[in-house]
Amino acid sequence: MTDAARLQSRIDELARVGGSGTSVSRLGLTPLEGQARDVVASWCRRQAATARIDEAGNLYVRFAGEDPNAPVLLVGSHIDSVPEGGRFDGALGVCCATEAIVSLKESGVRFARPVELVAWADEEGARFGVGLFGSAAAFGRLPSNAAERRDPAGVSVADALRALGKAGDPTKARRDPRDIAAYLELHIEQGPRLDRAGKALGVVSDIVGIYHGRVTVRGRQDHAGATVMGERKDALVAASHLIQALELIAALFPDTVGTVGEIAVRPGAKNVVPGECTFSLDIRAPKQESIDQVLEAFDDAVADVTGRRGVQVSIDRLQTVAVTPLDPEIRALLLRATNQVGVDAPLLVSGAGHDAQNPSLSGVPTGMIFVRSTGGSHNPKEFASTADAALGARALELAIEELASRG
Ligand code: GLV
Ligand code: MN
Ligand code: MN
Repeated sequence: MTDAARLQSRIDELARVGGSGTSVSRLGLTPLEGQARDVVASWCRRQAATARIDEAGNLYVRFAGEDPNAPVLLVGSHIDSVPEGGRFDGALGVCCATEAIVSLKESGVRFARPVELVAWADEEGARFGVGLFGSAAAFGRLPSNAAERRDPAGVSVADALRALGKAGDPTKARRDPRDIAAYLELHIEQGPRLDRAGKALGVVSDIVGIYHGRVTVRGRQDHAGATVMGERKDALVAASHLIQALELIAALFPDTVGTVGEIAVRPGAKNVVPGECTFSLDIRAPKQESIDQVLEAFDDAVADVTGRRGVQVSIDRLQTVAVTPLDPEIRALLLRATNQVGVDAPLLVSGAGHDAQNPSLSGVPTGMIFVRSTGGSHNPKEFASTADAALGARALELAIEELASRG
């Protein structure tokens, strides 16, 4: 059975890779993510399991089943982080999945079907802007030209994969969803609902749809001293109006959020009126209709700002992920499993994106357990207690046992 102390030591060991205090910066498709993969693979070495890293940098560790040809049960999460993120986002799911599977093996449980532990590569998309990268590659859902996307230093996804010893073509990581019986993922909740409800665990019913885009505002680069205020085409000031418009628009729609988290100004000098400004757009909602309406209203804001300020604005759509309902049968199974460990788990809609969206949208029965977290997420204060994490791992273990024993 899941060992809480060993689970905590896995969390601590993984957090040391790219960690400093409680902060973790372990970006996807970097050598640090590779080190984290090595740590996870090392945890399975004492089991008769086979590890492989696919063409997108995903780590799979396969535990044999009595029928080697039966569709596998896939369990895991991601091991990359955002810059200056926390120790639990993604990592907790991989630690709990490992602990659950290894515990089952140690108790001599025989799997009817193979069980695969997965540590997805680059879920956050923090380096190249392609979120859910590894799982999207595995399920043939990468945005077009994903391999050519570049980080701020000009390194492409293909280059980063080649640096890992891969061929540079992540589409080769695709697998047939029919070979996967089910996918399970445990993750911290990343919001306050479980904490406020006094519950250690939740079960996810649906995951929001996501739109990621990039807005480019082109104005006119000018001398900051010699250009009078009435004659400027300041790209940054125009962008600031659009950023405020996004906040106002998103607030009009229920459960809908809009965020600008990245911005770059060119040429970027204190005595130059900015000639160009690019910023990211992240819009999410449980209904696609709300995302579409936010985008329409944002287009109106763009028309208004370009008219008033004489700038040009273009919007590139970088990635979209559809609203994702998770499988009702797996959901019922996870509610039973959480109940068995003593938690009356509420059903929650996830406002964060998850790798689970890719298998689910590809027809693989998929379910997620949330573990209570405090301190928010995508920051060094995110936190899940050992006790809560162990309860989650135990519920996951029960669910794995049930799904893996079905022939
Ligand atoms: C990943 O954490 C996301 O929701 O963007
Ligand atoms: Mn995250
Ligand atoms: Mn995550």
